[in-house]
Amino acid sequence: MSYTTIETEVHGRVGLIRLNRPKALNALNREVMTELTDALDEYDSNSNIGAIVITGNEKAFAAGADIKEMAEASSVEMLQRDHISIWDRIRSVKKPIVAAVSGWCLGGGNELAMICDMVVASESAKFGQPEINLGVIPGAGGTQRLTRAVGKAIAMEMVLNNRTLSAEEAYQFGLVNRVVPLESYLDEAIQLAAEMAARAPVAIRLGKEAVNHAFESFLSNGIADERRAFYFLFSTEDQKEGMQAFIEKRKPDWKGK
Ligand code: CAA
Repeated sequence: MSYTTIETEVHGRVGLIRLNRPKALNALNREVMTELTDALDEYDSNSNIGAIVITGNEKAFAAGADIKEMAEASSVEMLQRDHISIWDRIRSVKKPIVAAVSGWCLGGGNELAMICDMVVASESAKFGQPEINLGVIPGAGGTQRLTRAVGKAIAMEMVLNNRTLSAEEAYQFGLVNRVVPLESYLDEAIQLAAEMAARAPVAIRLGKEAVNHAFESFLSNGIADERRAFYFLFSTEDQKEGMQAFIEKRKPDWKGK
């Protein structure tokens, strides 16, 4: 498929999506979100792809939802357009997604990074939820995911007082997995995704689901789901192969079955 506001590239078993609206600092308008979710769906259903990387450019991962697209809208128009519901499609992607973040990662941009499963940040990345400056609050899961990721105190400061986190602070507060030099952040993210893409696909899928469950629900439900998934994995060839390979001191040959 050809796109106008994103670019796609395949690196081995990793599908890369690059947001490509540089003049608007990759602001997430309707077209970007539609193309992004179409590309995610395409990678998710392609058995040659095992993991996905979403990135922007060095200056901006994304500076938020497109303010110009919604500035004049009334509440009823926002409700009727319901542009944010498309984010549910990102949440439902089964393969792991790594965000490779450099520069501005603000508002909806930070919400996009947080809906991914892992974040690799360049030293110049800056994370924030500046919606309060516009007289609104985050609308694509920001208040919920941020609070779970960094805790109440820092989340309050970011949402209520536009505190921006440096890459190093974001790492300390648990928002990102690692901070690496600008020259290598994308390569590191692709490498991380490639490692997951080489692992047992069914276990990767259920592991992502189980961790998301812990993140999004009550402990008791999450533990019950995790246990079911754990038992279920014993019906896969990959579990037999993985355990046998360990015993035989060799590398497993994953089949995704
Ligand atoms: N929406 C639309 N356009 C945006 C944008 C956004 N979120 N962010 C930047 N742009 C545009 C600017 O309007 C500008 O366009 P023009 O050249 O046509 O004027 C271009 O991108 C470059 O931006 P700046 O000139 O402002 O660049 P800068 O380097 O001086 O500042 C910045 C960078 C601090 C990131 C600044 O652009 C900024 O504050 N952007 C807005 C950030 C923001 O408020 N994000 C939250 C959006 S609301 C949201 O995301 C809601 C939600 O939860 C879903």
